[in-house]
Order: sequence, then structure tokens, then C-alpha cells
Amino acid sequence: MISVADRWARDGKKDTWSKKAKASGYRARSAFKLKQIQERFEIIRFGDAVLDVGCHPGGWSQVAVELVGTKGEVIGVDLQPCQHVDGVTFITGDVTDFEVQERILDSLEGEAFNSIISDISPHITGKWDIDQSISLSLVAEVAEFTFPLLSPGGSFVAKLFQGVGIEEFIQLVSKHFTKVKRFSPMSSRNASSEVYLVCKNYVPWKVKEKNLKQRFESIMDQRLGEHSISTDVLPTKSTFKVFQKAKD
Ligand SMILES: C[S@@+](CC[C@H](N)C(=O)[O-])C[C@H]1O[C@@H](n2cnc3c(N)ncnc32)[C@H](O)[C@@H]1O
Repeated sequence: MISVADRWARDGKKDTWSKKAKASGYRARSAFKLKQIQERFEIIRFGDAVLDVGCHPGGWSQVAVELVGTKGEVIGVDLQPCQHVDGVTFITGDVTDFEVQERILDSLEGEAFNSIISDISPHITGKWDIDQSISLSLVAEVAEFTFPLLSPGGSFVAKLFQGVGIEEFIQLVSKHFTKVKRFSPMSSRNASSEVYLVCKNYVPWKVKEKNLKQRFESIMDQRLGEHSISTDVLPTKSTFKVFQKAKD
């Protein structure tokens, strides 16, 4: 459990970044997370095409459009509608829906993305281990859909929550890139649980199999055994599997 002192420190930090975001014209404090990732890893270049997954309210898209400039392109997708940002095409809908994926493909007009940035995080049950597991499955699905849209040498950034399956997921994704690092930006509110996976130099020819989400889930099934798929969860709209540590 988080101590009172830690909570004060964390909330103080949160206030500072929120004030900074407001003063700089960014819609969300999370804009600084992408700025810090960019400062360290240079994932986005001038003229790039960027897909921002889970983009609402648009903080990351604002930063991305500054980086790609007028020659670049930013497409953002989220369940919630975003207010207009110059230079960004926002698509409202579930990124796992076939129709929404078709709209993303249409707006690409046959080009490839240079960078996929995902800050996506579902909020479904309020139970930490279940949400963490659903989040990982969702990011696996985002990776499966977006990797074929990424140009060779491209980058992929995704927010992950620490917990069951994270090492397996990172191992699986790492095979598609030559440089993979974990990074916790200073502006991360939940420094202990939230981590960004930063992957550079996409090498599409290295992995032949396409179904990343299925590969991830079968690794987890094998590792945890059938009994570890939690069944004591209230029904939700999610189609994602929930992995929990097997009880001894
Ligand atoms: C932490 S917020 C993103 C903040 C954003 N990066 C910014 O800087 O403004 C996570 C977002 O993921 C979105 N999300 C969750 N599940 C999604 C899904 N299946 N498809 C699209 N967006 C989703 C949520 O609606 C939420 O807005």
C-alpha cells in the first residue's frame, strides 16, 4: 500500500506536471511523457507519419505534430472524440474494431507509418491485476494490427503496466526490433507500475508469424496453465483474456 508521504510526493509531482501542461498549451500532462521519451530516444523525426493509439484528449498528438512538422502526418484514434488539433486526423472508435482499422488504413493512403505511439489504457473493472492483464492483451492486439503498417526502421512505443505477462510480452515484441528499452519518464504519475516500452528499428523480415496476440496468449496459457484464466470476474464487454498467477 502507498504511504501518506509517498502519496503527497506523487500528487505534488502530478500537480507540477499538470500546471506545466496548462502553461504550455498541452491538453494533458501526459504530453511531457512523450516529450521525455523523445528527448531520450528520438523516436519521431521531421516529416514522419505517426499513429497515436489511445490519443484522447490529444496531448501526445499535439507533441507529435510539433515533431513531424508540416511535411509529416499524425493520425490519432480513441474511443472518445478529440477536439481539433491542426495537422492531426482524429478517428473516433475502438482500435480493435475492423471498421476503425479500415478507416486508419484509408487515411494512410497506401503509405506506412514511421512511428506507432500507444498510450492506450482500458479502465474496465477497477481491479488492478485484471486491468493490468486486459491492458497487456489490448496492447498485444494493437501491436498485431499496427506492426504490418510500420515501415522498416520504424519505432513503436507502448505504455505497459507491470505484472503477470509483461516479460513474455516484451520478449515477443523484441523479436521485431533491433533496439528495445524500458523507460519510466519523470512525469509518470504511477512510477512504480507504469512503464513505457520503446522499440526502435523495426525489422519486418525477422519474424514470419503475424498473429502476435494469439502467440502471446498461447505463451501465457502454457506458462500459467488453463486454470490460471480467471473466471471469477463480472462480465464486461472486453474480449480480452485475463491472466492471473496460478494459486499454489
Ligand atoms: C491515458 S489516455 C491517453 C492520453 C493521451 N496519450 C494524451 O496524451 O492525451 C488512454 C486512452 O486510451 C483510450 N482507449 C482505451 N481503450 C481503447 C480502445 N479499445 N480503442 C481506442 N482507444 C482506447 C481511452 O479512451 C483513453 O482516452
